[in-house]
Amino acid sequence: MFTPAQQILRMGFGFALAQALRVVVELKIADALAGAERTAEELASAGGANPDALYRVMRLLASEGVFREVSPRLFAQTELSAALRSDLPGGPSDFVRMINTEAYRSFGDLPYSIKTGRTAFERLFGAPRFEWLDAHPEQAALFQRAMVSVSQGANEAVAAAYDFSTARRVVDVGGGHGQLLSLILRRNSHLSGVLLDRPAGIASAKAGLGGPLSRTEFVAGDFFEAVPRGGDVYILKRVIHDWDDGRASLILRNCREAMTPDGSVLVAERIIGEGDDQDLNKYLDIVMLAVVGGKERSKPEYADLFLHCGLRLDRVIDTSADISVLVARAA
Ligand SMILES: C[S@@+](CC[C@H](N)C(=O)[O-])C[C@H]1O[C@@H](n2cnc3c(N)ncnc32)[C@H](O)[C@@H]1O
Repeated sequence: MFTPAQQILRMGFGFALAQALRVVVELKIADALAGAERTAEELASAGGANPDALYRVMRLLASEGVFREVSPRLFAQTELSAALRSDLPGGPSDFVRMINTEAYRSFGDLPYSIKTGRTAFERLFGAPRFEWLDAHPEQAALFQRAMVSVSQGANEAVAAAYDFSTARRVVDVGGGHGQLLSLILRRNSHLSGVLLDRPAGIASAKAGLGGPLSRTEFVAGDFFEAVPRGGDVYILKRVIHDWDDGRASLILRNCREAMTPDGSVLVAERIIGEGDDQDLNKYLDIVMLAVVGGKERSKPEYADLFLHCGLRLDRVIDTSADISVLVARAA
């Protein structure tokens, strides 16, 4: 049993665990352990690492159940490390890598974000997160893979939760890799789709990252400028949480203007709850603050946001995953 001081110390070491995970993902250690137990020396030579340094990282992660040290310096896979294999479609390894590079570095400057309410990312990297990604294609591609990683189960749940039977044209605004749209179109053969994202997101979707996209128009554009017109459903999954109220309102107003008069705007988000339950969303909320300048919102906050954009919250659909669909219509 840990004393309160020890528990706080462990939390204070969170940075070490996060970076240790990043290292083993980058060295593909879980792939190397897929078929057999391996020594630290074997793992290091396969990944081009220093054997003693890697051993110490492996020992730390084994103490947290990520690997098992079966005899001195010999490691085996566990259920947790198996989840880090790079060949698992949509596994968490891409997200672990993505969040522990530029986003991680931004957290070193979290006090700046707390003092000013501004993003530490922009101060450190000289541009807002998504503009910076535009100029860094490798990281932008990793970001899209990470979005697939962190969406596992959620895209299926959102596609299943809403009844698209009376819709004709669905516009996925900020749909990135396209997995949600792909699943919606697969379930609803009468629908056509439009995928709007920045060029890197569209490129990943066209390359098939999110699955097949037939009956789809691809639009590389800027949702602050305009969104494609004439859709009867506009869906924004994990997009509004990237932005403060002013920027989020611009996107929602553009959807309101572009949609057919009886159209709907679906905002798929994890709604932040009251109280002090453990919730991954509370981590993501701070990431939004320090990295992109957005926030996770409660249901009343979403309802207010809609009202400022000529929309009204019609209902909230809980899905089978940790994500809800807020359905808004013209006010
Ligand atoms: C958090 S990701 C969510 C992606 C996807 N909807 C999902 O749930 O996995 C936000 C998306 O918004 C896109 N985005 C950011 N700024 C944009 C802009 N100005 N215009 C269009 N898309 C933008 C990003 O490229 C990214 O794909």
